[in-house]
Amino acid sequence: MDGKKPYYVTTPIYYVNDVPHIGHAYTTLACDVLARFMRLDGRDVKFLTGTDEHGQKVEKSARSAGMTPQAFTDRVSQNFRDLVGAMKFSNDDFIRTTEPRHVRACQALWQTLVDKGEIYLGSYHGWYAVRDEAFYGEDELTTTPTGRKIAPSGAECEWVEEPSYFFRLSAWADRLLAHYEANPDFILPPGKRSEVMAFVKSGLKDLSVSRTTFDWGIPVPGDDKHIMYVWLDALTNYITAAGYGDPAMAEDFSHWWPADLHMVGKDILRFHAIYWPAFLMAAGIAPPLRVFAHGWWTIEGQKMSKSLGNVIAPQALIETYGLDPTRYFLLREVPFGNDGDFSHRAMVNRLNGDLANDYGNLVQRVLSMIAKNLSGIVPEPGVLAESDRRLLDAADGLLGTVRAEIEVQAFHKALDAIWAVIGAANRYVDEQAPWALKKKDPPRMAAVLYVLAETIRHLALLTQPIMPDASARILDQLGVAADARQFANFGPVHALTPGTPLPPPQGVFPRFVEAAPTA
Ligand code: MSP
Repeated sequence: MDGKKPYYVTTPIYYVNDVPHIGHAYTTLACDVLARFMRLDGRDVKFLTGTDEHGQKVEKSARSAGMTPQAFTDRVSQNFRDLVGAMKFSNDDFIRTTEPRHVRACQALWQTLVDKGEIYLGSYHGWYAVRDEAFYGEDELTTTPTGRKIAPSGAECEWVEEPSYFFRLSAWADRLLAHYEANPDFILPPGKRSEVMAFVKSGLKDLSVSRTTFDWGIPVPGDDKHIMYVWLDALTNYITAAGYGDPAMAEDFSHWWPADLHMVGKDILRFHAIYWPAFLMAAGIAPPLRVFAHGWWTIEGQKMSKSLGNVIAPQALIETYGLDPTRYFLLREVPFGNDGDFSHRAMVNRLNGDLANDYGNLVQRVLSMIAKNLSGIVPEPGVLAESDRRLLDAADGLLGTVRAEIEVQAFHKALDAIWAVIGAANRYVDEQAPWALKKKDPPRMAAVLYVLAETIRHLALLTQPIMPDASARILDQLGVAADARQFANFGPVHALTPGTPLPPPQGVFPRFVEAAPTA
């Protein structure tokens, strides 16, 4: 905490009954890119992810695995930690809802809500979908010919009747709407914001926030026959990790909270954009600054599901295409916020087109010309021509453009802007034809290669959040010191130093070659 502006970004916490797939990797990847970007941009970042370990769904999975819920969650939570390593996520904390710090925070929040008269005891009777851990109204359900009740998400519902504590959600509808009105960027993208507003306008019912018919969860303070509703428990993770409920961490909490961004998939927006700000406001705590709902991935045009056997493990993509191309593809292929389709064809097109042909080839051509024609030494720029300045200015100006797009989670637009400069740099190589200048005009060749190397330095600084390994390799090859890779090094003041010897160039983005079909 050194006076730099804090940036606190969170992923949803993942249900441990599932094995991680690309949907999970996607949400965390988006946050990882934001966290890396903000760190490079000089912000004090806290990036949180973790696992959601309580509730009926996890209890059921533990039972079918023949384990106690604690032993089960201890084992499977590790799958999500392994994903962090495989995808090189840079989270600063990994929270498990079974940790004592979290139990303490949940009970503190509950007690505050009780003290403020926001929770009362009643009894619940209605429909519950274990798969979604969500309550549904009769009017939201469809009935199958055999009489099964199905939620809009496709999850089967069961009838529940039990004593329950309720949160006075109905009383918060107007204040929620006022909050959405006053903060137009609280929910993004805008289409999702309209959906949430329409839902709240249609009226909110009080929310059942405790259960008595199973016990894998956090006991309600003073009435431990009840355990807290798993979504109240899960959402609280965001304040637990910031220090809520721990008097020794009061200063941390005021430093980090409110969070800048909760990144979520569209399926869980309602919990984050309605229940969560209502719980917080009711407890006298500020709501987060933004909830962004991203879309869902299908695989080769089909919904990803265990029964179809098309669930893609992120590790499989990394093995086939490499980590950085996978990270690039996921954030480039689809406008962030829309649904998208993963296909091998689309992935190979991006890999061979954007990465190998455009970015990779630019870097490769320039570095090998410097190696061959200039003995691998950064040349003197000499006097710059108008065309040189234009390219350098475009590279320098990228930071502002990309920052503005990242600020609104428009990863695809940020990448479009970067690739526009890659395109301009490749055209500049063709126009200037430095290979032809070697004999004709060596100082001009040196100037052209200098301008290109400087442009690539800017590009590689900016691609670090998306492709950390490849960008580091490019910056290594340009001789950029590890402590000169912050965005503060943008622009002419920190330009490459003529005379610096460079290591021998090595390709960074190999083409993807299809394996020959086996007979
Ligand atoms: N445990 C809750 C979240 C609690 S947050 C306080 C949960 N977990 S989850 O594991 O089911 O889902 C976590 C995230 O993965 C969600 O943001 C969800 O949208 C995302 N995805 C799951 N499948 C997905 C796709 N096929 N595509 C994109 N994202 C998907 O919900």
